[in-house]
Amino acid sequence: MIGDKKALFSGMQATGNLTLGNYLGALKNWVNLCDEYECFYSVVDMHSITVRQDPAELRKRARALLTLYIAAGLDPEKNCIYYQSHVTGHAELAWILNCYTYMGELNRMTQFKDKSAKHADNINAGLFDYPVLMAADILLYQADVVPVGIDQMQHLELTRDIAQRFNSIYGDVFTVPEAYIGKQGAKIMSLQDPSKKMSKSDENPNASIYLMDDPDTIMRKCKRAVTDSEACVAYRDEQPGVKNLIDIYSACLNKTPAEVEKEFEGKGYGDFKMAVGEAVISVLKPLQDRVAELEKDKAYIDTVIKNNAEKAQYVSNKTLRKAQKKVGFPERPR
Ligand code: TYM
Repeated sequence: MIGDKKALFSGMQATGNLTLGNYLGALKNWVNLCDEYECFYSVVDMHSITVRQDPAELRKRARALLTLYIAAGLDPEKNCIYYQSHVTGHAELAWILNCYTYMGELNRMTQFKDKSAKHADNINAGLFDYPVLMAADILLYQADVVPVGIDQMQHLELTRDIAQRFNSIYGDVFTVPEAYIGKQGAKIMSLQDPSKKMSKSDENPNASIYLMDDPDTIMRKCKRAVTDSEACVAYRDEQPGVKNLIDIYSACLNKTPAEVEKEFEGKGYGDFKMAVGEAVISVLKPLQDRVAELEKDKAYIDTVIKNNAEKAQYVSNKTLRKAQKKVGFPERPR
């Protein structure tokens, strides 16, 4: 809670090209939550350096992501949108929480296993510790809810465990957060291999729709999406490719899978894939136009960055000071 409102935290990495999965699984659901919650949305650039980055490129992408948050409909007057690296409490709380997290817990994280397999030449301590920084992000703002896609559930469970462990020693310091998973789009799969999630780091560019893809590319990727030989638009596990396309279509147009099945009864995959492409374009094209427009207003974005970082620093300091006091750090002279 912050004041009399429940609090909400979420974040995204600015690495790689954001995909339709990031948008439908997370960003799309963030809009309109600020009436009910005090919302904090971070561009988590400190998480990004757990794998090697080109510095200039990271800076550019981080700014583009922050702009995308606004373009997607997050009003920075009502939502606190900021760079993680601008707020000192994230690293400071992460250090404290490190001392309340077990190696065995971090060893079990599937994302760590996946990423260390992928970056075998750079399995650094930050990569291992990644979920603790994520716990610090969430707990600093006393977040009641955390809107994420399904792939982040394991990290969220760990955050809850760390919060409960700390609270059981020191009293009620942290709010124990709940995940908020959208009804649709919580796990968008690869267009080329529907057993894998759609991912920014997929080597096959046809597997993912990127948020900045132009309409022709989107249409081409949808037409090439892997389906099956059933020739029936049905929402069932035995048809994972078609099921994924139904998920995409229904999340883009706010329909239920049952409505989509009905709409395409008796129609072939060709028509269906075209309709999916059009639905995706109808969502992404306005988003891209708005990004282009916002990018022109450098001064506005700079003001958002400065004001919101100050707000986040102020709010997070309260929790940080509380945790520091609990563990026995001396009070700072005023
Ligand atoms: P990241 O940057 O990988 O993804 C950002 C958000 O997009 C969701 N997502 C998906 N949803 C549906 N289908 C997909 N194929 C798909 N791919 C990604 C993710 O679930 C996520 O919600 N560790 C986090 C960032 C983070 C964070 C946090 C999130 C750092 N601190 C605190 C919440 C709270 C990450 O790398 O997300």
